[in-house]
Amino acid sequence: MKVFAFINQKGGVGKTTLTINLARALSLKGQRVLIVDFDPQANAGSGLGVRVTREESIYQALVEEECQSKIREIASCLYLLPSSIDLVGLELELANLERREFVLKDLLELCTYQGKPLLSFFDFIFIDSPPSLSLITVNILTASQGVVIPLQCEYYALEGLSLLVRTVRKIKDTFNPDLRLFGMVLMMFDPRNRLTMEIAEEARKHFKWILFDTVIPKSIRVSEAQSFGKSVLDYEPHHKVSESFKNLAEEFLARLQNTELALKSIENE
Ligand SMILES: Nc1ncnc2c1ncn2[C@@H]1O[C@H](COP(=O)(O)OP(=O)(O)O)[C@@H](O)[C@H]1O
Ligand SMILES: [Mg+2]
Repeated sequence: MKVFAFINQKGGVGKTTLTINLARALSLKGQRVLIVDFDPQANAGSGLGVRVTREESIYQALVEEECQSKIREIASCLYLLPSSIDLVGLELELANLERREFVLKDLLELCTYQGKPLLSFFDFIFIDSPPSLSLITVNILTASQGVVIPLQCEYYALEGLSLLVRTVRKIKDTFNPDLRLFGMVLMMFDPRNRLTMEIAEEARKHFKWILFDTVIPKSIRVSEAQSFGKSVLDYEPHHKVSESFKNLAEEFLARLQNTELALKSIENE
């Protein structure tokens, strides 16, 4: 498993924060990670200090069927294929295409970087998504193997999750048999807040099978780091939030190894 969708149709739950910082934590372990920003709001870019024009964005990569000149090296082992606001038009432009659900998948499969296919150059491709269930998100789910869902520890956190899970199943049954729910992460965790604890309990009750043990604490450092265009691991490497992303990276890799072993043993049966 290599391509992961970071998805939740709610806005402001921590999709971009999780994508950027988990990617950074993995890159610090020597894993080569490409972040694909497939959200017209382009927050993954701004959170990493990158702002681009349409010509330099994934939109143009789709037009030219070429990624090499659009991918930027952000730090050692960390790369970004940035978005721009022009992506808002994509939804309509896709509607009439024959392979409209496969546009992103096709791009990731045919593009190369430094002379190698993206899928072999990178250890991981993390796709950041917009707050919707739309043709853009269908493309993201069709292009991915794993789904990671951030949950904000706030009111109504679990509302809409069954629709999201159903959507994932539907894409698996139609366009992408390789897709699986891989993980769920509690974001903005505040143990002093009773609501946080209630949400954590509910999440454990219903989604224990995918919930990561590691939680990401609530901290002002996260938005501070983003306003400086840095991952929180670069902004405050020793802060507890940074530590939590490093722990999550460990847990992510361990789960991946177990999943791949399980998949292999099913294949061998
Ligand atoms: N652990 C956290 N502690 C405090 N603020 C956070 C945390 N995670 C995310 N945020 C803030 O919450 C807001 C929404 O997060 P974001 O990742 O942009 O969500 P999404 O991509 O789902 O819209 C941002 O302003 C971000 O800085
Ligand atoms: Mg976002």
